[in-house]
Amino acid sequence: MAEIDNKIKVDERLRHIAFIMDGNGRWAQKRMMPRTYGHKVGAENFRRVVEYCNEIGIKIVTVYAFSTENWGRPRGEVEAIMDLLSGYLDKCEREMEEHKIKYNFLGDMSVLTDELREKIERVEKLSSGYDINLNIALNYGSRAEIAHAFSVLAKKGLKEISEDDISGALYTSHCPDPDIIVRTGGDIRLSNFLLWQAQYSEFYFTDVLWPDLSSENIDEIVREFYRRKRKYGKV
Ligand code: IPE
Ligand code: IPE
Ligand code: MG
Repeated sequence: MAEIDNKIKVDERLRHIAFIMDGNGRWAQKRMMPRTYGHKVGAENFRRVVEYCNEIGIKIVTVYAFSTENWGRPRGEVEAIMDLLSGYLDKCEREMEEHKIKYNFLGDMSVLTDELREKIERVEKLSSGYDINLNIALNYGSRAEIAHAFSVLAKKGLKEISEDDISGALYTSHCPDPDIIVRTGGDIRLSNFLLWQAQYSEFYFTDVLWPDLSSENIDEIVREFYRRKRKYGKV
């Protein structure tokens, strides 16, 4: 990592950062606003965070946008999140050449509306030539992902399964494991996110609520990452 005039630039040690974007609802409630307003402001911040991560040289960003368990929320909240996503996808398509981001959605898209799924497929296809990666975990659950990977391998007729076979059948097969997983919102748990891929990830938990996560906070996360000594079981 280099830091010149307070501007951070990462090196190949920090290729992949993942965010559990938590705390939107509480952010809104603190302001006497409906939870859906928190999702709207959270979605705006998500775009800023991704842009900033790319600016400082992080090539792969993964975000947890909607879990397999989040369907259990009130219908109005789920619909508001899906509407935000739909608007976001329109923007991605309009601004594709400006951002040069390759989008990949992680999760089972088959349960989404046809309209949403088609938008996702279009954005993934149109952006497939770019090399800055943004993975958006949507209707994502790590256990569901692992179970799905085993089904894929079973269908191939494999009798013995290696770690690489499993990694290769996950939704994240196109990228290395996250170097660091960040969770905003104060809770210290993974909530079914990247259980397999987190094998040697660093973890960073902060009380900052997702809509408030700033570029200064990200700089601090990066500095903390570079203070850690990653040992992978060795001495
Ligand atoms: C995270 O924020 C966004 C989603 C899970 C979709 P929350 O909506 O979980 O916000 P809190 O945790 O209730 O504050
Ligand atoms: C995790 O947040 C899921 C996302 C950020 C999309 P939750 O708010 O759903 O997690 P729990 O319920 O606090 O574990
Ligand atoms: Mg939450």
